Amino acid sequence: MAEPRTVSDLLTVGERVLQDSTHLFEDHVHIDLARDLLASALRLDEEELDEDFEPSRAARDRYLALVARRAAGEPQPFLTGRIEFYGLQLKVWPGVFVPRPSSELTVERALRHLRGRKRGKVVDVAAGTGPIALAIASELPRSEVWALDIDEEALAHGRKNARRLGIDNVKFRAGDMYGPLPRRVKGEMDAITGHVPYVPAAELDDLPTEVREHEPIHTLTDERDGLHLLSRAIFEAVEWLKPGGWLLLELSDDFAPKARKIVRKAGLVDEGVASDADGLSVVVEARTKP
Ligand SMILES: C[S@@+](CC[C@H](N)C(=O)[O-])C[C@H]1O[C@@H](n2cnc3c(N)ncnc32)[C@H](O)[C@@H]1O
Repeated sequence: MAEPRTVSDLLTVGERVLQDSTHLFEDHVHIDLARDLLASALRLDEEELDEDFEPSRAARDRYLALVARRAAGEPQPFLTGRIEFYGLQLKVWPGVFVPRPSSELTVERALRHLRGRKRGKVVDVAAGTGPIALAIASELPRSEVWALDIDEEALAHGRKNARRLGIDNVKFRAGDMYGPLPRRVKGEMDAITGHVPYVPAAELDDLPTEVREHEPIHTLTDERDGLHLLSRAIFEAVEWLKPGGWLLLELSDDFAPKARKIVRKAGLVDEGVASDADGLSVVVEARTKP
């Protein structure tokens, strides 16, 4: 192809380059990534991209540089500085775990179980920048949501997004697992959500570059067999949940049977596994006995 000049040509080239990259997750829709990068380079919304429009040379170069960085493995949200999560426009900064669209399933499931409890209490453990906590809090503005994480930087980003979006019912607290919760909320939680690190240390090398080289290791793995933090999230949840309260854990599907075994060991009622249409991630669901 001659030098790509039009939006249409630029998208074709971008899609091809991203398709050829070996550094990215296989399930990306490359044309969507290219469109997002082009809109970002042209400082437009995607709907404003006109196929026949010829962007300036500077804008084209900006876009092609973004495509090259993406193909080399930089996470998309680090390049565009944003991600949409459950209808919220979240700003994203490098150096922390990138919110995954797959976590929207956890939000959906939590909202289903919290139906009718407008003033519910929710903990999001290993909350990172808090996408799950923010989405639940925004859907249920009278609820009290605790976002807990060991990573102060991630929580600081969460607080900035909460302020920008006017979400004032999330308490971001730093510490190890449930450690930051005050004793007075013991036995009061309607739901606990968690997307804890569960990649076994031995499998870190199998992750694509976009994860392995751009997200801090403590956000991906427990540096053991993948079950250490997961077991803690389950066993330690019991004392914070109210009778009949829900525990919802996002995992890859191969981990679900192991997690369910731990759930039963912890004395919780195993309520099965929810999955979304593409089956990329699953949510293991459990309850305390009523
Ligand atoms: C897979 S990321 C998920 C982040 C967030 N829930 C999301 O979906 O974007 C796991 C998070 O667990 C946090 N984490 C790791 N060890 C922890 C611990 N001992 N206690 C609390 N959080 C921890 C990491 O800092 C990271 O933010």
